[in-house]
Amino acid sequence: MKEAEQKLQKLYRELEIKVAQRTMELLASKHLADIGTLAATVAHELRNPLGVINVAAYNLRKKARDPGLIKHISSIEKKVAEGSQIINNLLVYSRMKMPQFGKNDIYSLLSECAEAVKKHFGGRKIRLKKLLQPLKGMNVDADALQLREIFTNLITNAYQAIEDNRGVVEVSGSVKSGNGIAISIKDTGTGINKEDMANIFKPFFTRKTKGTGLGLVICRDLINMHNGAIEVKSAPGKGSTFTVTIPIRRDK
Ligand SMILES: Nc1ncnc2c1ncn2[C@@H]1O[C@H](COP(=O)(O)OP(=O)(O)OP(=O)(O)O)[C@@H](O)[C@H]1O
Ligand SMILES: [Mg+2]
Repeated sequence: MKEAEQKLQKLYRELEIKVAQRTMELLASKHLADIGTLAATVAHELRNPLGVINVAAYNLRKKARDPGLIKHISSIEKKVAEGSQIINNLLVYSRMKMPQFGKNDIYSLLSECAEAVKKHFGGRKIRLKKLLQPLKGMNVDADALQLREIFTNLITNAYQAIEDNRGVVEVSGSVKSGNGIAISIKDTGTGINKEDMANIFKPFFTRKTKGTGLGLVICRDLINMHNGAIEVKSAPGKGSTFTVTIPIRRDK
């Protein structure tokens, strides 16, 4: 009798965990759908007018001789390019799909992401440290494009957090006991104050003039879809560390 009761209790606990997990998944997908629709609508509505402005600026530039006027046209073109970038971010977000799982050489993937971001910020004297040796030869079951999206976003944030021309961005990896790896992106940038910390994963929260405030939202949703987790530690004025843990295999 006691044994049966214990068994029942165990089953009950398992069921509770399953219900909680499924609820979380549903909440995440609902949230995703709402913001996705909004983002897609805004992006779509903005794309055409921006295109028209761009063509008009191009035609004006062809005719313009006055250096003062050319300067104004350049600033229109620059702002149009910035606007287009924001639209791209919105579209990435709205088109977010369930992961297509496959084997990923995580060592190479992270090295490539880090080098690509470094190249993008080429003009700045920021040292990139890669401590990825522990991940060498490991294959992670995940969506390749989504992994790239996650780490490109986090490494880009790290570079952007460094305001002066000196600083270090460190990308490190380790294997956890059981079925997981941890990847940390550490910067010696501005850090995040307590108040902002409560907001950084909220859609459209940004402290940047050219930010959409969707980077971390995208990261968190993609990581959740991989059954992973993201954690932040930050010391204002000193820097931040974002740590992502993801399972190596899906079946555990
Ligand atoms: N490494 C970091 N150091 C300091 N602040 C950070 C860091 N990463 C994120 N933040 C803060 O969190 C905010 C939200 O980040 P998120 O990546 O979601 O959007 P964003 O970088 O502002 O814009 P986007 O990524 O869409 O271009 C940032 O504006 C910044 O204030
Ligand atoms: Mg960002």
